[in-house]
Amino acid sequence: MPRDDIVNLAARRSLFYPSAEIYPNSPSGFWDFGPDGETIRRKIIEFWRNELVEKEGFVEIYGAQILPEAVFKASGHLESFNDPITQCAKCNSLHRADKLIEEKTKENVPESLPTKDLDKLIEKNQITCPKCRGRLGEVRKFNMMMGLDIGATGQQRCYLRPETCQTIFLNFNRIYKTMRQNLPIGIAQAGCSFRNEIAPRNTLLRERELGQMEIEVFFDPQKIDEVPDFDYVSDYLLNLWLLDEKKLVKVSCSDAVKKKIVSGKTVAYYLARVQQLYANYGIGIDKMRFRQLDKDEKAFYAAETWDFEVETDLGWIELIACNYRTDYDLKRHSKVSNTELSVSEDGRKFFPHVFEISAGIDRTMYVLLDHTFRKEKRGAEERIFLALNPRIAPYLAGVFPLVKKDGLLELAKNLTAEIRNYYLDAFMDEKGSIGKRYARADEIGIPYAITIDYQTKEDNTVTLRERDTMEQKRIPLESLPETLWKMKHGKLKFSSL
Ligand code: GLY
Repeated sequence: MPRDDIVNLAARRSLFYPSAEIYPNSPSGFWDFGPDGETIRRKIIEFWRNELVEKEGFVEIYGAQILPEAVFKASGHLESFNDPITQCAKCNSLHRADKLIEEKTKENVPESLPTKDLDKLIEKNQITCPKCRGRLGEVRKFNMMMGLDIGATGQQRCYLRPETCQTIFLNFNRIYKTMRQNLPIGIAQAGCSFRNEIAPRNTLLRERELGQMEIEVFFDPQKIDEVPDFDYVSDYLLNLWLLDEKKLVKVSCSDAVKKKIVSGKTVAYYLARVQQLYANYGIGIDKMRFRQLDKDEKAFYAAETWDFEVETDLGWIELIACNYRTDYDLKRHSKVSNTELSVSEDGRKFFPHVFEISAGIDRTMYVLLDHTFRKEKRGAEERIFLALNPRIAPYLAGVFPLVKKDGLLELAKNLTAEIRNYYLDAFMDEKGSIGKRYARADEIGIPYAITIDYQTKEDNTVTLRERDTMEQKRIPLESLPETLWKMKHGKLKFSSL
């Protein structure tokens, strides 16, 4: 869907909008989510929790967002979490050098390229300031962490975490001991990270406060090929965009391991689980790929990286970084904090290795809106709807009394309450024509609409309308909550009612 359609829908229905928008000079890259947007966002996290975290038996933590400087000395972020920037000599505006070059050349430019090389590319491609066409200054590195001083005397230098996973590494040893688990252990966390982006853009795609759902799987490096559930995915085809071939190939998990395309079964297994997760969210398999990153493109802590990308109207968008971080983080934290973070298993003492699945929450939301937005011409009218997965839609059902009088409003209220008793999301809308109420519900992706009319009083049936087909069926009132529950969980199809 065109970006403007997403932005317009988001503004019209208050799905998300700039934070502190009533103050004109508020910094960009911060977004608030209105009631329906927040519900979609929360359900995206809940879906990840149900489909990946719980099914894989991972544990979840909540970590603080502000961490002391020592953490980032150890993690390498103070030294290496930099973006290359260039300033216009005429209007002083700042730009990401790598992005300007990418826009001009349509070629991937690794942000880790030495600044001298970026200077040369700017000169070679005659790139000038996109705002005023002025001359661009020498490229320099800019650290993207947001710092702050804690305490009344401000003597404790801290930073807002630039990735949620640092708290997972800091927690690892405690969780390992107190949860009485052996490797492998997956520790998950959904929360916010902060990056001082030079040029936030495309709404939720490049933010300064970003939602992340991160999982760090800690495993014994000697057992990278010991994955008990590997058989379930061994024939599963991964969409891999390979550096050597410069194209997308479909490779089974077992072949990816045999041909050493990935470091081992642990990596192939989790790539499969990520692809399955996003297929279950509702993204078509042919619109997704794992792009293999070369050494210039990978983050400083990663030995192997696969960016999970989804094709949108804006091109391929990275949703997840799948990083094999080896023992980089635990070793560094152990050394700098002078704390024992290795484990003893099988008569060996070693630092566990880590495979990371780092997903963007807000990017996932943007891409789901992009992929589910539908605009249909119906005669002179235009119908807009979001074909969202029922588990992601802000409500499962809207309950609409045909009129407010003659007891229909009470029946609708009772039905709404009964659906909620099944822990399903329902809302009631009694304002405007039925057609307008359907349209409002369609636009935010509500899969089912229930109309209470005069026949309901006679025979205890209601009209159940399906969003995507707009087909309507007469259903007994008392069976509705259970029917809705089954349809939400894919155990019953509307067409079989
Ligand atoms: N933890 C990896 C990332 O934030 O990109």
